[in-house]
Amino acid sequence: MKSIFSLINGIIIFFMVIVSADKNNWWKNSILYEIFIRSFKDSDGDGIGDLNGIRMKLDYFHELKIDSLYLTPFYKSSLFDMGYAIINYTEIHSSLGSMEDFENLIREMEYTGMKMIIDFVINHCSDENEWFQKSIDKIKPYDEYFIWKNAKGFNKDGKPIPPNNWKSVFGGSAWQWNFKRKQFYFHQFGRKQPDFNLRNVNVKNEIKKIIEFWIEKGVHGFRIDAPQFFFEDEQFRDEPLKNPRKQNTRDITWFDLIHIYTFEQKEIYEFIHELRLFTDQFNKKNSGIER
Ligand SMILES: *[C@@H]1O[C@H](CO)[C@@H](O)[C@H](O)[C@H]1NC(C)=O
Repeated sequence: MKSIFSLINGIIIFFMVIVSADKNNWWKNSILYEIFIRSFKDSDGDGIGDLNGIRMKLDYFHELKIDSLYLTPFYKSSLFDMGYAIINYTEIHSSLGSMEDFENLIREMEYTGMKMIIDFVINHCSDENEWFQKSIDKIKPYDEYFIWKNAKGFNKDGKPIPPNNWKSVFGGSAWQWNFKRKQFYFHQFGRKQPDFNLRNVNVKNEIKKIIEFWIEKGVHGFRIDAPQFFFEDEQFRDEPLKNPRKQNTRDITWFDLIHIYTFEQKEIYEFIHELRLFTDQFNKKNSGIER
């Protein structure tokens, strides 16, 4: 009898150790459910999934023993690239719900201890974002929020020639001419997704403000989108071809280049570390949950 009791006691103690370890490392051990909101659950009959739809399914997640939800972008976005071209980082896309819906969802998740991780797209935004519009007009400090470069020259038809041979992952040159500013802007992905200048202190501060905004709403973590693409060579050097015999620049795609200047640059680690330190400040303030 006594030995069974101590065995049970041992199991209970063992279990408590796991749970308490879990509290600090939840993001390493928890079972995550990824939700693409538009196709998950429609609560208002408009044919598009929404935040209230997720809230209606919380019992279902509980039954499945899901610890945390990972939401793909719900921000005000252009429809280009399915939410990954963000117009405003602190607004909810209207067809997915309202800020109140978001707050209600996170509050109800808290009752059962569920965590919320949100997608965070900081390599680029939408060309419809107010920051980009101000950047085109060279309004300070937004003029330096993106990566602008002069044309290398003009061809005989007067068409501007891109600064180098860098290609977009989605096809074509990574440089898009802007007629108003009379410069090229850089985009790793679509031409409607200008890359942020992540070396700019003001841009970094905007990103930190966004992190702060969502942590204050109760968000527990961020899934960082496309970090491999955050930085590019400051000298804007051409990337070498995989097959040097393929010289016709018109045929060359992203897949033909060796990405020594636009992909997986060292500064990524420093920047992520900077965001980690920034987020740690909130962990100290709210000692209960690690973010
Ligand atoms: C985003 O929306 C908020 C709230 O509506 C507004 O205050 C802010 O200026 C907007 N930011 C941008 C970059 O459009």
